[in-house]
Amino acid sequence: MERQWANLCCHSLLAFFIFVFFCDEALSSVRAEDGYISAVGDPGMRRDGLRVAIESWNQCNEVGEEAPLTGSPRIADCFDVYRASSLSKETNCSLCDTIPYLLVHRVTPEENKLRTGEHFLGLPSDALFNADLYAAEKELYLGFKCQVEDFPNPWQFWMIMLKSGNMDTFAARCPKNGVKVGPFGPDNGFPCFGQGCMNQPSIFHDYTKLEGPNRTTLKGRFFGSWDSDVNYDLSGGLARNVSDNISYHSVTWEKEIGKGSWVFHHVLRTSFKYPWLMLYLRSDATQGFSGGYHYPTRGMSKIIPESPNFKVRLTLNVIQGGGPNSQFYLTDIGSCWKNDGRPCDGDVTSDVTRYSEMIINPNMASWCRPDNLGLCPPLHTFPNGTVVHRNDTSRFPYSAYHMYCSPGNAQHLEVPSSLCDPYSNPQPQEILQILPHPVWGDYGYPTRQGEGWIGDPRTWELDVGRLSQSLYFYQV
Ligand SMILES: *[C@@H]1O[C@H](CO)[C@@H](O)[C@H](O)[C@H]1NC(C)=O
Ligand SMILES: *[C@@H]1O[C@H](CO)[C@@H](O)[C@H](O)[C@H]1NC(C)=O
Ligand SMILES: *[C@@H]1O[C@H](CO)[C@@H](O)[C@H](O)[C@H]1NC(C)=O
Ligand SMILES: *[C@@H]1O[C@H](CO)[C@@H](O)[C@H](O)[C@H]1NC(C)=O
Ligand SMILES: *[C@@H]1O[C@H](CO)[C@@H](O)[C@H](O)[C@H]1NC(C)=O
Ligand SMILES: *[C@@H]1O[C@H](CO)[C@@H](O)[C@H](O)[C@H]1NC(C)=O
Repeated sequence: MERQWANLCCHSLLAFFIFVFFCDEALSSVRAEDGYISAVGDPGMRRDGLRVAIESWNQCNEVGEEAPLTGSPRIADCFDVYRASSLSKETNCSLCDTIPYLLVHRVTPEENKLRTGEHFLGLPSDALFNADLYAAEKELYLGFKCQVEDFPNPWQFWMIMLKSGNMDTFAARCPKNGVKVGPFGPDNGFPCFGQGCMNQPSIFHDYTKLEGPNRTTLKGRFFGSWDSDVNYDLSGGLARNVSDNISYHSVTWEKEIGKGSWVFHHVLRTSFKYPWLMLYLRSDATQGFSGGYHYPTRGMSKIIPESPNFKVRLTLNVIQGGGPNSQFYLTDIGSCWKNDGRPCDGDVTSDVTRYSEMIINPNMASWCRPDNLGLCPPLHTFPNGTVVHRNDTSRFPYSAYHMYCSPGNAQHLEVPSSLCDPYSNPQPQEILQILPHPVWGDYGYPTRQGEGWIGDPRTWELDVGRLSQSLYFYQV
């Protein structure tokens, strides 16, 4: 995640992409003595009573300024389903026969609209007027409302994440490798149309409700835009008028009661003023620091999976791509540890966020090449354990890598090296981006460009744990 090489993004004035993410078998599991146990709260996404939330970040994973209509950018849709018809005989409730199910929502519209300056249970006073701290506390509060008890830990919600890559270097909002820095610029490496370019998007919310002729289809949605100067009716969605040239995000979730799995449909569109946008569906840690955060989170991962013993199963149907500048990840893992291997503790100068991602947009070329070793990881490890150095041109699989960049606080880098963008995370970061290639086939990943892309929907069973253990990460 946290697309690196910000300068690339700016070349596309309007990348346009739509896709559907059917996560109909989202199963992340860890090995138990007799088979597998689920590391996520709702294996297979089969539970009718959904738990989903949305968060929004600026370029360095903070809030900065809240959007006027939306409030603090943490919103949740959590509900339980009750069978109303079972009540009809006892209570002579004739209405109960026409509405067979009832939804009870756990988070009210007033709670979802909470913004800085407004109190809620457990809010520390130093967060009341600080938009960054307030959002982190609001996430904990919504998690408390949505929490489902489970073994060995409770869980809270799937997290949809929005992020804009705009950065106002003159506003000095983002630290450099975790260290506060003053204003600088102009810097064309980052998109910004001027003052206010780091604003948060509007987020509208259609609470999940029962639809369809028999009222058995559960459906809900979050949607909105970063373009705040457009007084625009987004409810009709993207198709209304493409020439309107405004940014747009939408996630819809849908399920038949008692059948199948939740289907998530994602749409994201960039605009002239917002050329670099991100949209994710995440299974965050239910406690502790998730990768890219420097505060405790709430999520679905009730067990933090550790390499090599975990797999992820998901179904993905990409409907439309976004052109050559659009990255699209089959999976994206964000984690955190220090350069000496110790776990992260919230100290943003020594914590390092580590990302590994497979880009399945087939328009994406490999920047790691024999004549460009600085964008390759120093080593590649084959499934049989054989390790080859990147200068071994006859054996190193260059085209399996889009690019690699090193943490900005690393002290012992092998030359040549490329440092990751120092501004786009609260901490220094390390990013390894891989591409479909035969070397990943052993782990269940796509082996050639185009696999799993438009017209090729698939259910993947990915040996994420074993693959990620074989990937190179900097450590001394
Ligand atoms: C149930 O409602 C019907 C119609 O309103 C009424 O005739 C009937 O007496 C009610 N039965 C009971 C048990 O309350
Ligand atoms: C609605 O219920 C009827 C009767 O049970 C059934 O035949 C029909 O298939 C249902 N429709 C949907 C869309 O589920
Ligand atoms: C779409 O937007 C363009 C530019 O704003 C406008 O000229 C055109 O009339 C709009 N079309 C429709 C169908 O609203
Ligand atoms: C969007 O607007 C910008 C600036 O007016 C323009 O350069 C760009 O071509 C427009 N894109 C589309 C798809 O209309
Ligand atoms: C391990 O795999 C690599 C790549 O397939 C191959 O070149 C190498 O010969 C293998 N080594 C052993 C010891 O099997
Ligand atoms: C390749 O890199 C390794 C490790 O830095 C070094 O020991 C070796 O001499 C290099 N080989 C060539 C051919 O440059």
